[in-house]
Amino acid sequence: GTADIGVTGLAVMGANLARNFARNGYTVALHNRSRGRTDQLVAEHGHEGEFVATGSLEELVASLAVPRRVLIMVKAGAPVDAVIDQLVPLLEEGDIVIDAGNSHYEDTRRREAALAAQGLHFVGVGVSGGEEGALNGPAIMPGGPKESYAAVGPMLERIAAQYGGEPCCAWVGTDGAGHYVKMVHNGIEYADMQVIGEAHDLLRRVAGIEPAAQAAVFDAWNRTELSSYLIEITAEVLRQTDAATGRPLIDVIVDEAGQKGTGRWTAISGLDVGAPVAAIAESVFARSLSSQREVREIARETLVAGVDGAGVADADREQFVEDVRQALFASKLVAYAQGLDMLSAAAAEYGWSLDLGTIASLWRDGCIIRADLLDVIMTAFGGRDTDRHPEPGTRAEGQPLNLLFAPEFTRAIADALPAWRRVVGAAISAGVPVPVFSSALAYYDGLRADRLPAALIQGQRDFFGAHTYRRTDREGSFHTLWSGDRTEVDGDGVPV
Ligand code: 6PG
Repeated sequence: GTADIGVTGLAVMGANLARNFARNGYTVALHNRSRGRTDQLVAEHGHEGEFVATGSLEELVASLAVPRRVLIMVKAGAPVDAVIDQLVPLLEEGDIVIDAGNSHYEDTRRREAALAAQGLHFVGVGVSGGEEGALNGPAIMPGGPKESYAAVGPMLERIAAQYGGEPCCAWVGTDGAGHYVKMVHNGIEYADMQVIGEAHDLLRRVAGIEPAAQAAVFDAWNRTELSSYLIEITAEVLRQTDAATGRPLIDVIVDEAGQKGTGRWTAISGLDVGAPVAAIAESVFARSLSSQREVREIARETLVAGVDGAGVADADREQFVEDVRQALFASKLVAYAQGLDMLSAAAAEYGWSLDLGTIASLWRDGCIIRADLLDVIMTAFGGRDTDRHPEPGTRAEGQPLNLLFAPEFTRAIADALPAWRRVVGAAISAGVPVPVFSSALAYYDGLRADRLPAALIQGQRDFFGAHTYRRTDREGSFHTLWSGDRTEVDGDGVPV
């Protein structure tokens, strides 16, 4: 065969990626479980480039140049395993299987190991940017063996979004690293969407600004350091009038947020690797709470607000809007800080060499969280350097231990802090839930605290379970004989 790449799974993401490859001059072999989609794609878009329509995986594989590159774009989970099982017997040593779906990184680790044992390369690739990104240039986060990047990297870089002449695509690390980075992207996406939602709620319920007027506020914010795709589309959504009712569309949409799993995985992994991704987790919980329809119905009738219900006075409205903007920015920075921090923790856990500067560079365009801010974050982490591969589990030299320690962000948060505290206070007084604004602020205050009540928790643990504690003034571990004479003993039970 002579085709450059095969794509199996031609739902909208797969079809658009296939078209993107073809539009960039590659010959693309196509396969779908039901032949109809394949023929439809060729009928509608055949003029965009070179396609080879095939009716079976055998035919697909036979149409490919060696080493064969097969990209799978099917629903994450069992369907991916099913395709791999059918594909593997048809492939030869050195061939490359690419999974471009939102697979769980543990699945990717398992599949990579299984295929490596058979001499095949398995490349788990995170792809972000939705349907349009897939067609016109997504952000691409490839993992898998470094060697296989030589065979697939150039093609992926060519179809990726370009930012300032650099592709939003670079090898991020071995086995599941690509899917992990995509997962964290989605966790940040959840938090970013939630903080925008909280800002919207405050503007409406505390400042009394109606959706159409809010659209103008978000447009204005999009010309500040908040400038981003998500702010831009927020204005679009808020501006939309429902044709059927004449009301703002936002008021017609059921307020129960769906989720397909990647945000939840991020929160779970944060717990697993011991990274405090509370703002991200809160954004997942906020979606879960929104979807508890029955509980909410009862709560609406039963649970009182306990507030006076005073909104902001006309004279204070402008200041409040600016406060919300600053609180949104500070909370968003915390979500990024938590996401990047969890990448470092995962690198240590899974032995990955993750370069946070390069990873941030991939998110500058093409993906859902694309924003001017990402270029600043990239710079704070030493810029993009696709040859910089820190020792597995360590961060690259000179990179800050936390995003908030980069001087420009330390300053930005300090500037936003008075507004941030005012907004969280006002939200709590008004009974408007701001789980991510407030959780992000708690993270910030937790980090900077001189002393945390963790000391008391250690005391309690020692009391009920003799779990011991460390002292601030001496090495070693200690235990107080709580049920005896309350003297202190060392780790060996010897009185000190
Ligand atoms: C992206 C999106 C994409 C998809 C998610 C949304 O980066 O292009 O994140 O992967 O829209 O599945 O996730 P939820 O359905 O969980 O909101």
